[in-house]
Amino acid sequence: MFGLIKTWKALEARGIMGINRRNADYVLKYNKRHLYPIVDDKIITKERALAAGIHVPEMYGIIETEKQIDKLHEIIGGRSDFVIKPAQGAGGDGILVIADRFEDRYRTVSGKIMSHEEIEHQVSSILTGLYSLGGHRDRALIEYRVTPDQIFKSISYEGVPDIRIIVLMGYPVMAMLRLPTRQSGGKANLHQGAIGVGVDLATGVTLRGTWLNNIISKHPDTTNAVDGVQLPNWDGFMKLAAGCYELCGLGYIGVDMVLDQDKGPLILELNARPGLNIQIANDCGLTQRTHAIEAHIEALAKDGVTEDAEQRVKVSQGLFGHVHPG
Ligand SMILES: Nc1ncnc2c1ncn2[C@@H]1O[C@H](COP(=O)(O)OP(=O)(O)O)[C@@H](O)[C@H]1O
Ligand SMILES: [Mg+2]
Repeated sequence: MFGLIKTWKALEARGIMGINRRNADYVLKYNKRHLYPIVDDKIITKERALAAGIHVPEMYGIIETEKQIDKLHEIIGGRSDFVIKPAQGAGGDGILVIADRFEDRYRTVSGKIMSHEEIEHQVSSILTGLYSLGGHRDRALIEYRVTPDQIFKSISYEGVPDIRIIVLMGYPVMAMLRLPTRQSGGKANLHQGAIGVGVDLATGVTLRGTWLNNIISKHPDTTNAVDGVQLPNWDGFMKLAAGCYELCGLGYIGVDMVLDQDKGPLILELNARPGLNIQIANDCGLTQRTHAIEAHIEALAKDGVTEDAEQRVKVSQGLFGHVHPG
């Protein structure tokens, strides 16, 4: 017990943010309750993003009632790949990523074959609230399946890697690339077994990786190095993330983005209670960074100044970019 407390104190001294501090000083303080539905319901997030001119995977349809499950055939139409997900899901649960189709059979991205009835059953489970926060009734959304940019081929196993940026009052504070593994079934959620890799905010170059709480430098499935990779269009991702503050009004969020081969950067979802593992992937605590942003905002407020997304990105990159020797 004493050992545990000592370890915790050592972590806090290094500025590692714990769950209690995150909830009290950030989630509760900066995220107004009435705004939660904007991020907790992926259909509402999409509508907001579209209204703000921010790109998201195209929505093919929504199923809200058991009766509407009959519409599934029509919504899918002639498409052979698509994604079905619970509007209020989390952690990758309940998501079906269909990669291919032959006659009335579908193949998921991880190779599982499903019949149309099985897919309908999954939709029905979504509607009953099996995957929703709090277990209340939910809606199923059917959307465009993202094809990851070629850059990720060597460092990812199936599925779609995503880029998570934590944003405080519109200022990016920390970033992580999440890579699906064989174990995570094509999803980029850490607790499903995906890898988290820290990213330098200034340059978009990957740092080291963590997998199931171990530090790694190679992808366990592809054995390629996950560090030292330059993510394309990095400033674009930073601006997209910073701009999500205006989109949702929540002051402390995790912005999840993907890079589609054809459509470029897209917002996948926003999180009002972003996880703390990003600190392990970056070998760096969040607290010093969030304090630096709070001090910056306070200083600006004295002069009655606010900054736009582009200026905020520059501030964060100046404060938190890694120093490259030479
Ligand atoms: N449209 C999509 N195309 C391909 N993969 C997707 C799509 N939507 C989600 N995924 C995969 O599933 C994971 C979880 O999806 P997300 O929308 O973030 O839901 P959750 O709230 O459950 O994390 C993503 O990180 C990605 O790997
Ligand atoms: Mg997610």
